[in-house]
Amino acid sequence: MADATDSGRVALVTGGARGIGRAIAQALVRQGHRVVVADRQPATWVSEAAAPDAQRLHAAVLDVTDRSAIRALRDQTLARWGPVAILVNNAAISPKQADGYSAGVLDISPSEWESVLQVNLTAALVLCQEFLPGMKALGWGRVVNMASLAGRTKSISAGASYMASKAGLIGLTRAIATEMGPFGITANCVAPGRVVTEMSMTAGVEANAKIAQQLPVRRLGQPEEVAEAVVYLSGPLAGFVNGAVIDINGGIYMP
Ligand SMILES: NC(=O)c1ccc[n+]([C@@H]2O[C@H](COP(=O)([O-])OP(=O)(O)OC[C@H]3O[C@@H](n4cnc5c(N)ncnc54)[C@H](O)[C@@H]3O)[C@@H](O)[C@H]2O)c1
Repeated sequence: MADATDSGRVALVTGGARGIGRAIAQALVRQGHRVVVADRQPATWVSEAAAPDAQRLHAAVLDVTDRSAIRALRDQTLARWGPVAILVNNAAISPKQADGYSAGVLDISPSEWESVLQVNLTAALVLCQEFLPGMKALGWGRVVNMASLAGRTKSISAGASYMASKAGLIGLTRAIATEMGPFGITANCVAPGRVVTEMSMTAGVEANAKIAQQLPVRRLGQPEEVAEAVVYLSGPLAGFVNGAVIDINGGIYMP
């Protein structure tokens, strides 16, 4: 079970410049892990982090749809800190139309469909393909994929492309959990409901207040509440949790 390396693993968090990804990276670094924060925009908060966290953080500007950039980051991380043992696929997009709503099924453009599937689903596969061999060599690994309530049931506000990508991510996670379990690697999903971040705030204050009133807890979630589940799933005592989906939604969806 737990050993000396459990608080000193190397983790990679995609989409860690802000929102839930930032909270995950901060929580993992507090656990003593060394954390690479990969995002297409600069993670400015990393350069402002204080010691001792600052020494255990590295920010990389990376588009998760760029396989060669992923390979380069993998090799740089290996040279800097060693193999990545914890991979958190968190980066995602949820496009909205000019009116603030998601495109309906009849209106989804080929480019929206393609880009959402690329960022939210295909990139997670590619990242796994590039980092799982290192975990296999370690004989230990944790993959945590950021799904969504929208991939579990009908969505409050997300569109079909996002819903399909997140449902697909849950399926991908089950496949990884099945194939990689024998090598000491688990794969699980976290499925948040509405959490206060820049992504969810695009819906507007009023719409979010209405959603909050529909939830049994009568409030939206905070990024730190999602991050805590990732800390658990990536930790030593979660080794028997494999292929699971942890719902964090204030009780609006109870499967
Ligand atoms: N906020 C919510 O209510 C909510 C609910 C359910 C699920 N989620 C999921 O949680 C995760 C984080 O969401 P958030 O609310 O923090 O979103 P956010 O938009 O605030 O942050 C997402 C981050 O991902 C990065 N990103 C997007 N495309 C990228 C790419 N191609 N390459 C690299 N980085 C990229 C963005 O730059 C951004 O920093 C996502 O997977 C999202 O689908 C969020």
